[in-house]
Order: sequence, then structure tokens, then C-alpha cells
Amino acid sequence: MASSMSLKLTCVVVFCMVVGAPLAQGAISCGQITSALAPCIAYLKGNGAGSAPPACCNGIRSLNSAAKTTPDRQAACSCIKSAATGISGINYSTAAGLPGKCGINIPYKISPSTDCKSIK
Ligand SMILES: *[C@@H]1O[C@H](CO)[C@@H](O)[C@H](O)[C@H]1NC(C)=O
Repeated sequence: MASSMSLKLTCVVVFCMVVGAPLAQGAISCGQITSALAPCIAYLKGNGAGSAPPACCNGIRSLNSAAKTTPDRQAACSCIKSAATGISGINYSTAAGLPGKCGINIPYKISPSTDCKSIK
């Protein structure tokens, strides 16, 4: 009993290392991405009226300059997608227009249907 428990725990730990490794090698972590985008959440739940919060634009700008390589952009994309699907009430029309509101050109759309593997 006890030994089968510890075997399971070892499997979980190894799984996390294998899955987490590609992200950890990138320039930015998923945690950095979600905290950079945290000031955007209230705005993303709205109808996109008014200007985007400056803290939110700064977060997007710093992520965009940090994620320069294809693997980094793909990792950032999957991270943003999984974070966004965990938050209810996000208006994806507002999300798609957000970088433009901030005057930032990002190479992919923030949408649940974005295929992160297609990002170059
Ligand atoms: C979502 O955003 C779009 C444009 O940004 C707006 O026209 C629409 O009313 C919003 N929908 C909701 C439910 O707020």
C-alpha cells in the first residue's frame, strides 16, 4: 500500500518535470505571463469601450518583447489560452482588439480557437 502510494507520487513528479521542462527553458514562464496579463482581466470582461488600462498594455508589451522565438511564442500562446479559458466571462472580441488598443502588433490572436502550433 505505502509503496504503491510512493510509486504514484514519483510518477506525478516525473510527469511534471517532463511537461514543465519545455516552458522552463523558454525566456518567460507561464507565471510571469499570467501576472503580466492580470491587469487586463477586468477590461477583457467588458465590451472594449474606452481605453485599455496602461498596466495591461505594459504587460502585453513586455511579454511581446520577451517572447521573441517561435518556441517562446508558442509557449506564451498556450499559457494565455489556458489562463483565458479558466476565467469566465472573457469577451474574445475585446481580447482580439486589445493589442491594437495598446498600439501593439502581436503576431497571433488571443482566442480559444488559436492554434498555438501554427504560430511562427
Ligand atoms: C464584446 O466586445 C464587442 C467589441 O469589443 C462588443 O461589441 C460586444 O458588445 C461585447 N459583448 C459583450 C457581451 O459585452
